[in-house]
Amino acid sequence: MRQTAAVKRQLAIGGVAIGLPAVQAALSGYSDLAMRTVAREHGAPFAINEVVLDALVLQKGKLQRRILNVPEHDHPVGGQLMGSQPETFGQAARELVRAGYDTIDINFGCPVNKVLGRRRGGWLLQDPDTALAIVQSVLDAVQGDAPVTVKMRRGSDDSPVAERRFWEILDGAIERGVAAATVHPRTVAQKYVGPSRWRFLKQVRAHVGDFTLLGSGDLFSAFDVVDMLRETGVDGVTMARGCIGNPFVFAQVAALLAGDAPLRPTCAQQRAAIERHWQVALPFYGDPRRALPPVRMHVIKYGQYHPEPIWAREQLVRVRRPEDLLERVAEVFADRFDEGRDRELRREHAVAPALQDCREG
Ligand SMILES: Cc1cc2nc3c(=O)[nH]c(=O)nc-3n(C[C@H](O)[C@H](O)[C@H](O)COP(=O)(O)O)c2cc1C
Repeated sequence: MRQTAAVKRQLAIGGVAIGLPAVQAALSGYSDLAMRTVAREHGAPFAINEVVLDALVLQKGKLQRRILNVPEHDHPVGGQLMGSQPETFGQAARELVRAGYDTIDINFGCPVNKVLGRRRGGWLLQDPDTALAIVQSVLDAVQGDAPVTVKMRRGSDDSPVAERRFWEILDGAIERGVAAATVHPRTVAQKYVGPSRWRFLKQVRAHVGDFTLLGSGDLFSAFDVVDMLRETGVDGVTMARGCIGNPFVFAQVAALLAGDAPLRPTCAQQRAAIERHWQVALPFYGDPRRALPPVRMHVIKYGQYHPEPIWAREQLVRVRRPEDLLERVAEVFADRFDEGRDRELRREHAVAPALQDCREG
């Protein structure tokens, strides 16, 4: 029989009140201002920017301006950093806080080869001394002005030494004063192959006591979110692949936690979310031609939740010109697809992930 833990309804990270215990994860290549805005407007209580390299935060230019531009409506927002040098990591964290990021997350998880080769992201799970020096440097630089958190995989690989290092880094980070940890219980070596080991989250929960713990991995529907909260006892979850093209999942989680039936979005709701995404992306990327590629990736993901997903994808991948986007979206997400359709969300509606990558932001 499955064990269940009492689900806390209100998440907080340090002094930052979040609310719904399901937030939008950091998603390289995806969780830009447009995605965060749409997620928030559909019930995400908190959203994390895609991981950014510390050096890029410190280097003057267009990208720096984009990273450091945190509009009024984008709160609470987490900034996530990647790097290998404690000093520049700390300096970049300070800049993010100055720009208005509400929390600072340290990435000890990214499994991309290029990142590992530069001793960043998941590579740091092999090197507790440097990992903890980074944590200390960020805490010193931020000086309590924002909660500092860590994002970790469950180890670099399945060896006992990797597991020991995981605990050493987690315990060391907690001792130094991080406010929360997010654990994605796959190993770095595993990348995205095979399941996320939720039972490891239970172990972490038992180990850290009342410390704020978020879980990640294999959350492809609102049902998975509630299952993870109940089965592992984590305080909250970060939605990743399961919320790309699916901002509706946050309201579905809220409904399930309230004991109500969660609803699938109508085509009109999908259309409106995409239109809003495009509207925010245009000024963010500066011009329609630059905005199209990142927005199109999202739009194709919305297609996975269309009543006829294969057909929808075929139509959406063909959009090449910005001026065609909304017209194609209106055709694909036309009201007629909702006729006679049962709106209630069921477990079998979960979309299996196609995306298995995390690029360097
Ligand atoms: C395309 C993609 C980009 C990601 N980018 C980041 C990132 O920037 N920072 C991070 O901590 N995790 C990143 N992740 C990991 C996710 O936040 C999450 O931990 C992982 O996908 C497991 O959750 P899931 O199985 O529910 O998708 C990324 C994952 C994917 C698929």
